[in-house]
This record gives sequence, C-alpha cells and structure tokens, in this order.
Amino acid sequence: MNVLLVGNGGREHAIAWKLAGSAIIKKLFIAPGNPGTANCGTNINISADNTKELINFAKTNGVGLAIIGPEEPLANGMVDAFEAAGIKAFGPTAAAARLEADKAYAKQIMRANSIPTAESRCFTKFEDARTYIATRDEPVVVKAAGLAKGKGVFVCDDPADGILAAEKIMIDRIFGSAGDSIVVEDKLLGEEASILAFVDGRNIYVMETAQDHKPIGDGDTGPNTGGMGAYSPATLVSEKMMQQISREILVPAVDGMNRNGSPYRGVLYAGLMITPGGPRVLEFNVRFGDPETQPILMRMKSDLLEVLLAVCSGTLDRITIEWDTKAAVCVVMACGGYPGEYKKGSVITGIEQAQTLKDTAVFHAGTQLADGKIVTAGGRVLGVTSLGDTIAQAQKNAYAAVEKISFENAYWRKDIASKAIRLSD
Ligand code: AMP
Ligand code: GLY
Repeated sequence: MNVLLVGNGGREHAIAWKLAGSAIIKKLFIAPGNPGTANCGTNINISADNTKELINFAKTNGVGLAIIGPEEPLANGMVDAFEAAGIKAFGPTAAAARLEADKAYAKQIMRANSIPTAESRCFTKFEDARTYIATRDEPVVVKAAGLAKGKGVFVCDDPADGILAAEKIMIDRIFGSAGDSIVVEDKLLGEEASILAFVDGRNIYVMETAQDHKPIGDGDTGPNTGGMGAYSPATLVSEKMMQQISREILVPAVDGMNRNGSPYRGVLYAGLMITPGGPRVLEFNVRFGDPETQPILMRMKSDLLEVLLAVCSGTLDRITIEWDTKAAVCVVMACGGYPGEYKKGSVITGIEQAQTLKDTAVFHAGTQLADGKIVTAGGRVLGVTSLGDTIAQAQKNAYAAVEKISFENAYWRKDIASKAIRLSD
C-alpha cells in the first residue's frame, strides 16, 4: 500500500521511521517532511495545510492511506476532506478534533461525562475573566482555548499573574484568535503522565505510557514548550491506575463523543496529572504526542501500518500490539532562546555519529537542508532517542548520543527522565 504522511516534525519522523519497517507498505510519501523523513520515504513539497494539493497528489499516486500528524490540519477538517474524496485517512474528523482545538469544548465534554479534571470556568470577555481571577487567592492556570503550539498555558502561583496572562491572551492577542476565549482552572499538584490510545470509534487500545517534560528549564522551571523530552514507560502509572484511567477517562470520553454524534477515530492523547486524589485530565490531544511518540514508537514491535488500518476499519479488537520491554528516553535538542526568539540556519554536525550508537535514533524536528548541509530551522531541532534495559540506561545512552551532536547555541535539558529514576530508587 502507498501511504501519505502529512507533517514535518519529530513526531512525523518517528512515524515515518516506524512505517518504513512495515511489511505491507509499498511507497511512503511525506508532505512536506524534513531531512530525517527523507531517509524513510520520499518527501513531497506540499505544505501540511494545503488539503487540495495533498488530495490531488494522493489521487495521482495511488495513496491508500493518508496519516495526518499535526493538530491544525485535523482541526481544519483534513480527514473529512480525504474521506469525501474517497481516500482512507487516519485521524479524527474536524468535529472530533475539537477535543483539542477548543479547550472550552473539551471541558464541556468532561463535565457532561463526569471525567475527572480541574474545576474551571470559561470566559470570552477579558473583564469577566479579570473579575473572576481577582476573587481567587489560590494559584490559577490560564489557558488559551484554541491551538497555541503547546505554549498557550500559564500556570500562575500568584493569581495576579493570572490576570496578566489573561490580558496577554485576550487583549494583546499573543496567540491570535486562539485566545478569543480562555479557560481558567485550579492548579493541580502531582506528577504528569501522557496516555495515548488508539481508538477506532468503539474499541480503545492503550499504548505504552510516557511522560513529557513541558517546561524549558531543568527541574521543570521556566515557560512551557511543546515538550523538551520524554521517556517511556511512565513508571508512576501502575497497572491498577491504568485500569482506573481507562474506566474513568478514556471510556467515558469515547462514549461521550459517540453520544455527541462525533465518533472518535485516531489517537486520543490524555495529558494527565496524577494527583493524590487520582488521575485528572489536563488536556486532550487528538494526535500522537510530540515528543512522546519518539520513545513510544521506539518500543513498538508490531507493524504500525497494520494498527493504523485497523483503527480506520474499526477492527482494533482483532489485533494485538507487541511492545519492547526496554525503556526509551528522548532528549530534545533545541535552539537557545526557544520558546522565545531564536536564530535559525546553524549547521548541525554529529548526527551520523550519534546514530551509530546502539539502540539510538536521532529524529529530526526543526531541521532543513541548505547547500547540502543540515541546518537548524525550528525551536525544537532534534529528538535524540535511545533504548536501554532500564530507564537509567536509556537516559545514559540518549545523553551519550546528544554529546556527539553540536550546533551553535544548542540547548537541552539535562534531567530528562531523572524523575522516573528518582521514583524507582
Ligand atoms: P495543557 O496544554 O493543557 O496540557 O497544559 C500544558 C502544561 O501546563 C501541562 O503539561 C502542565 O504542566 C501544565 N498544566 C496545565 N493545566 C494545569 C493544571 N490545572 N494544574 C497544574 N498544571 C497544569
Ligand atoms: N508533548 C505534548 C504534545 O504533544 O502536545
């Protein structure tokens, strides 16, 4: 089967890398892809938001399945458009993608289906938000309701900072229309875990667990980013807690979407806070996580394409997925300055050397080719990912690989997965 993968980040490189090993794939096209995905298939110069051109390409190249990686095209209805053109597509419809694209809607779904989450209020007027936050003397979390590339959330220990955050989002419009409405919620305390599940409309298959590291700085300090590294498995989620997560969160979410008339198909990602009172949903995403996908897919032994096709045909209950018992750690190398301003175009060296290390893959995120050289082209540049018999070993392997790579002003967190190692001590 010929497959078209849409996107150009580290997640898409990990998906392309995994698909390249499929027994049933004929040709893999990636649009637009990056220099890393070019080693797994053929990059096509069509941008991830050009639905019309992508569908034309798919038709003329015998594409049997389109896989939509990022949230924006999903929210804009790319799956609906492919299906209307008679081409199978992996991912939720625009109606179902609202679970991520509109945090106020996600809160409504959670409330209607008794899914545990932080207490919250939604606002469309800054004055109302300000009045509400001013009455609070506990920390608040202020979130742009729309899509903001993982940067739209402000955790404010002092409620006065919450008012400033609401002002930035609603008055200064730093995220544009993504900030037309905001969610203000209670701050939850605990450890985070990312639970990703394949959902075929009815059946749910939970993948191996992972933990992301959102803040830019070591020790979880500084502003949030798209994610600075991840490891799998997230040892804090026990088998028993996983059952609770399925029962209290995933099943009601999937049932709720069915009752709502927007059946869910694709990857459902629940970002959770594991609080002393149990797991609570911080957010739903409607796609593979980035960078969680990198360590999770390094551990998947089964044929990813077969799994994605089972999701599309509603036959997830007929397959099993095999996982490597090894752990995986992904360290994101970023441009200094990210998530703020940063310089692009610096030459990257050492990727080949890093990849020769055992059980290691270097996934490209923000890179491009310039004069035959790989240069930086985005905030998050590479996801250096290694397996190991334990999380500690995987961490050691990943950092050994990071040491082989250099580019001007490179920045990475030095403590990815350290929390898991501390927890298991
Ligand atoms: P979100 O995009 O909604 O997952 O938020 C991004 C990050 O902000 C999360 O990964 C958490 O680290 C933090 N966060 C979001 N909501 C809360 C909350 N209610 N309490 C504490 N931290 C939160
Ligand atoms: N790593 C968080 C996300 O994919 O949104």
